[in-house]
Amino acid sequence: MAKKTTLSLGTMKENGEKITMITAYDYSSASLVQKAGIDMILVGDSLQMVMLGDTSTIAATTDVMIHHTKAVVTGAPDTFVVTDMPFGSCSSPEKAVEHATRIMKEGRCDAVKIEGGVNMKNVIKAVVDAGIPVVGHIGLTPQTTSKLGGFKVQGKGEAAGEVLADAMAVQEAGAFMIVLECVPAELSSLITKRLTIPTIGIGAGNGTDGQVLVYHDMLGLFDKFLPKFVRQYRQIGEEIVGGVQEYIADVKAGAFPEEKHSFGGVTKEDLKDL
Ligand code: KIV
Repeated sequence: MAKKTTLSLGTMKENGEKITMITAYDYSSASLVQKAGIDMILVGDSLQMVMLGDTSTIAATTDVMIHHTKAVVTGAPDTFVVTDMPFGSCSSPEKAVEHATRIMKEGRCDAVKIEGGVNMKNVIKAVVDAGIPVVGHIGLTPQTTSKLGGFKVQGKGEAAGEVLADAMAVQEAGAFMIVLECVPAELSSLITKRLTIPTIGIGAGNGTDGQVLVYHDMLGLFDKFLPKFVRQYRQIGEEIVGGVQEYIADVKAGAFPEEKHSFGGVTKEDLKDL
């Protein structure tokens, strides 16, 4: 499958072909999702929670994002990779350009993702003007959950207009795609119809141009909590526990390793005088 580009992703929207995105944070998960045929990988700052065990994404740094991006790009060289700009890296247009440039040069990804709408319009524009493709992210923005009062659906009732204004601002700033997180389904359908750039939903219903899920959530690898919008396709965590339990039992019983797992090359004769 040919690697997607900002242009071919736009064509997918025009043709009504759904876009698939999933997070990956390391070489092995990236190579597996590429093998499965995913369109795009997100190196999300959710890694701070699902990989490093934190309670929020706030502590993720540009260095951490670059470290994981390098591994993902090595594992999935034929997949379009987007990396999150971490909290604090977009506090001014100049700072955002500096951090986005580092992520692109050192991480070797294809685009960066920036959380925020109207309030981040000048930041997104500066990064796009620096030649860096940007994916916007509006609705529930995990980096500002404290400000939003928790992990809550955004754009309910009269607040719908604010989320639409955010979407228009992100598109006007030059982003080539936008993530809509935890937005009422009717509203994200309307936004998807109004925008010319593709929308990728997470907890935003079925009317978006594509979907994104966190790898650990959809495969049963993270057990702290499960958002309502996740469908779990596998229970890999349970498989891992079962496999490790069998290994423990085999070692305790002396059933592992067998001869086929051991090395020869020394006879009793070789050892007799030792
Ligand atoms: O960091 C992340 O995984 C994300 C997704 C929730 C879209 O931003």
